[in-house]
Amino acid sequence: MSSLLIKNGVIVTAHEAYQADIFVDGEIIRTIGKNLTVNADRVIDADRRYVFPGGIDVHTHMELPFMSTESSDDFYSGTRAGLFGGTTTIIDFAIQTQGDTLTAAYQQWREKAKKSVGDYAFHVAVTDFNNNTRLEIKDLILNHGVTSFKTFMAYKGALMVDDRQIFELMEETAKYGAMVTAHCENGDVIDALVKRAIERGESAPKYHALTRPPIAEAEATSRFIDLAYAGDYPCYIVHMTCKEALDRVRRVQERNQKVLVETCVQYLLLDDSLYDQGFNGAKYVMSPPLRTKADQDALWSGLRQNLVHTVATDHCPFCMEQKKMGEHAFNKIPNGAPGIEHRVPLMFSEGVVKNRISLNKFVEVTSTMPAKIFGLYPKKGAIAVGSDADLVVFDPSNEYVLSAKTHTMNCDYSAYEGFNVKGHVDMTILRGSVVVEDNVASVERGFGAYVARRPYAWKNL
Ligand code: URP
Ligand code: ZN
Ligand code: ZN
Repeated sequence: MSSLLIKNGVIVTAHEAYQADIFVDGEIIRTIGKNLTVNADRVIDADRRYVFPGGIDVHTHMELPFMSTESSDDFYSGTRAGLFGGTTTIIDFAIQTQGDTLTAAYQQWREKAKKSVGDYAFHVAVTDFNNNTRLEIKDLILNHGVTSFKTFMAYKGALMVDDRQIFELMEETAKYGAMVTAHCENGDVIDALVKRAIERGESAPKYHALTRPPIAEAEATSRFIDLAYAGDYPCYIVHMTCKEALDRVRRVQERNQKVLVETCVQYLLLDDSLYDQGFNGAKYVMSPPLRTKADQDALWSGLRQNLVHTVATDHCPFCMEQKKMGEHAFNKIPNGAPGIEHRVPLMFSEGVVKNRISLNKFVEVTSTMPAKIFGLYPKKGAIAVGSDADLVVFDPSNEYVLSAKTHTMNCDYSAYEGFNVKGHVDMTILRGSVVVEDNVASVERGFGAYVARRPYAWKNL
């Protein structure tokens, strides 16, 4: 086991920013203090740089079989891209095949993820909740550390479940301290709108957005919140995109209900005008779709007002050749876009540098809250004695331009092509190992570790 001494950096947590040194012994932070003189195998000078806790992206889809193809980053390339961008841990989705068991999905994803270079955990996505799958819940939570379960209120005929399944899943998972999350869009309404559009010959990517209106998201968001309220269960809404949905969260604040909300970088920074470019708009075909600039403003306000708690990516890349499956019908374009590599730098550059959020809020929404909500804290998401030494040495003054030509994600386009970014991940440290330094990764395939999570974490929020 080797040791590191990180000197002279400004340590930034969700609550403070202060100058101090960090001594890392093996995988763990052992000491934090001013002018530490301890001997270490390597001394890193972080002068004029920030030291953040490793980023945690709680919404990714590596090598996801979806819409007759598979997302183009596997667990190796995807988690490696995460490390380049300061994300040291992901929570991916192990998705149940309808008719099969939850445990089979969990085991299958564990197997796929063995090649990861970043740490990882899983939400198990339940697509078929019945008396048999009910029996698997306790084991997954207590023996495998799966403390969150995902449901889809959209993707009718594929992943979608009905309200009864969601409610009964909440009932069963709450018994053991786990939480249900949901993709909130009204799948029936969308299914009808898509059918009509295709019948009318409206085949271009822009119709993807037009057939998934904000009201379909707001309605499902409200319904999901109410289902949770009916049983006094916690709930977590994934990838919220718009003001209408956020207003449904705002409306229930007086209930003192635990409603946790995630948005993604793309919904904060990109808007629906990107669909007005013919088939190129397919790059942005994702569900829910991109919304308006007014929606972006609402989401930034939601972050500041503690109504939105985490910023993830929903990283689900497909190359243009795959997107072309929907050249003649938008509903055949695989849904999803790349993002994991740039979440942390973009949130710093567009959030902190542009004064939309504070430096502490930036750490809170990209690392600490994701860890707290999903039972990873204080092992992850913290710079504290005893925590995993997952650290990012970040230069706030380095400016550069994003491009598919320079990113490492396995995707032939960037959703942020041409974006100017201020703030660069100079070094990423995962459990005490320097895994990225000066844009070079040195980490062995399989270095990433599975992280079993603690139940009842959301109770302390
Ligand atoms: O378009 C998306 N979001 N693709 C991934 C699956 C999902 O809905 O999260
Ligand atoms: Zn989704
Ligand atoms: Zn997703």
